Amino acid sequence: MPPDTTLPEFLALAGEPVEFRALIRQVSFAAKRVAAELRVAGLQGMLGSTGHINVQGETVQRLDQYANEMFVQNLLRVPAVSDLVSEEMDEGLHLARHKGEYALLFDPIDGSSNLDVNLTIGSIFSVRRPGDVLAKGRCQIAAGYIAYGPATVCVLAMRQHGVHFFTLDPSIGEFLWTRGPVTMPERGGTYGANEAHTEDWSEPVRGFVQWLRGESHHSTRYSGALVGDFQRILVDGGVYLYPGDATNPHGKLRLLYEAAPLAFIADCAGGRAVSEDADILEIVPAAIHQRTPLIVGSRAEIDRFLPAR
Ligand code: F6P
Repeated sequence: MPPDTTLPEFLALAGEPVEFRALIRQVSFAAKRVAAELRVAGLQGMLGSTGHINVQGETVQRLDQYANEMFVQNLLRVPAVSDLVSEEMDEGLHLARHKGEYALLFDPIDGSSNLDVNLTIGSIFSVRRPGDVLAKGRCQIAAGYIAYGPATVCVLAMRQHGVHFFTLDPSIGEFLWTRGPVTMPERGGTYGANEAHTEDWSEPVRGFVQWLRGESHHSTRYSGALVGDFQRILVDGGVYLYPGDATNPHGKLRLLYEAAPLAFIADCAGGRAVSEDADILEIVPAAIHQRTPLIVGSRAEIDRFLPAR
């Protein structure tokens, strides 16, 4: 790729239709706003909760609300987008006037518990046809996330072009291509899971984690933000897992705007994602806020987990 290729230039060179480019431009614009706000949130009293509980039963942080508004406001400007589904909205938003060919499903802030302690968080998004919102994950047209870490990185996966990284250069306000197509290593050296729940996991999951830290000598890396933990796995290989447990058999993560887009990215990079008994990309959702267990990572680790089922 020529030096300083911007995200819009990359998509134009890749021959992507102008409507899709408009959608991604507005997603990246929302992400720039969120990145800018994160830098000053602590100074401007934007941390902490709104006092509202969302449809998931979780406390809404001020920045959850801000990021959701940024995504909605920016996507409303794209006539090609006729449906929006967000973690922060009880119902999907249908934009009847738009008659567009895309639906955008998103989690505006992933890893909210990291906000007040100034650690990595993310935004996750999935692009589908409007009629495919409740179709299996394999129907996604594209998926991506933004990791707000030491640098702000937008990761975009498209079937024909693979997975590419674009890093925000804050001095010019542009996402520049930095890496791709990215291939997830065949196996890795770390796993990420909230092991406080070990006692409540199923026997196969416990056995798998036992194997990871025993015989296989994996180390633990868990940040509390799916995007950060997934990015480590995407770059270095390994496995991230948030299984179901005795109280929450479907786990914690949401299928449409967390598990399915990351499964799509993993798949495009040569990795794989499963729930405890199905391929994530084969699950047909019954509701927009449905949860699913998620085990995602390198082929070697996932293949080791599957025969145990
Ligand atoms: O949205 C879910 C999320 O915040 C993920 O980003 C993260 O991996 C997970 O929850 C952390 O959950 P827990 O606090 O239970 O480990």
